[in-house]
Amino acid sequence: MKIIVTDNYEQASLEAFKVMKGVVVKKPNAVLGLATGSTPLGLYKNMIEDHKENGTSYKDVVSFNLDEYVGLPRDHKESYYTFMHTNLFSGLDILEENVHLPYGNTKEDCDAYEKAMEDYSVDVQLLGIGGNGHIGFNEPGTPFTETTHIVELQERTRVDNARFFDNDINQVPTHAITMGIATIMKAKKVLLIATGENKADAVYAMIKGEPTVDCPASALQNHPDVVVVLDKAAASKL
Ligand code: PGA
Repeated sequence: MKIIVTDNYEQASLEAFKVMKGVVVKKPNAVLGLATGSTPLGLYKNMIEDHKENGTSYKDVVSFNLDEYVGLPRDHKESYYTFMHTNLFSGLDILEENVHLPYGNTKEDCDAYEKAMEDYSVDVQLLGIGGNGHIGFNEPGTPFTETTHIVELQERTRVDNARFFDNDINQVPTHAITMGIATIMKAKKVLLIATGENKADAVYAMIKGEPTVDCPASALQNHPDVVVVLDKAAASKL
């Protein structure tokens, strides 16, 4: 793992942007694995600014998102479909037909997403990390062999995400559809960003702990090309 420690969120976003831009400039038809949450917002702002100012084009880029809530319509304001269109896709020249997000709650829906990915090889998979060590919505205990599947969200994840749902945990969906760890591990490169003190324990377990299902992100120790971008707070326990 290559670990980059920065002073703050803005610098972490900039370092992550350099990695992402590097992939897209080298390969204009790159396949990007994308993520939602608060963490990638700074990176996405940089990508949009760079597209507008420097003309970096995404017209041949294909994207696959990590996960989506079960039970929210795609046009719900907190669906990851809406998040991605609002915070990234609307600011780039990426084509709607090249954008993929998982959707649904059946085994068939999961298999269909894996099948859609079969024709592609993800060049860079962007990840955040949950306070409990999850990547995508692969909660602790998820076997590393899982592909796209339906998960029941853990209490901590739902509490963490309640801020998007009027701070009311009852409004936070109980289930999600997510790429599995085996799906994520197929990416040629992984770019994980973590900032803030509440990620420090998970970051420590990911990097210094034994690879174990108790910290899903620790599976990345077995991946040949991982860049971890941290701020000082997230790196504070290393
Ligand atoms: P966050 O979520 O970026 O909103 O902190 C990260 C995650 O849960 O993977």
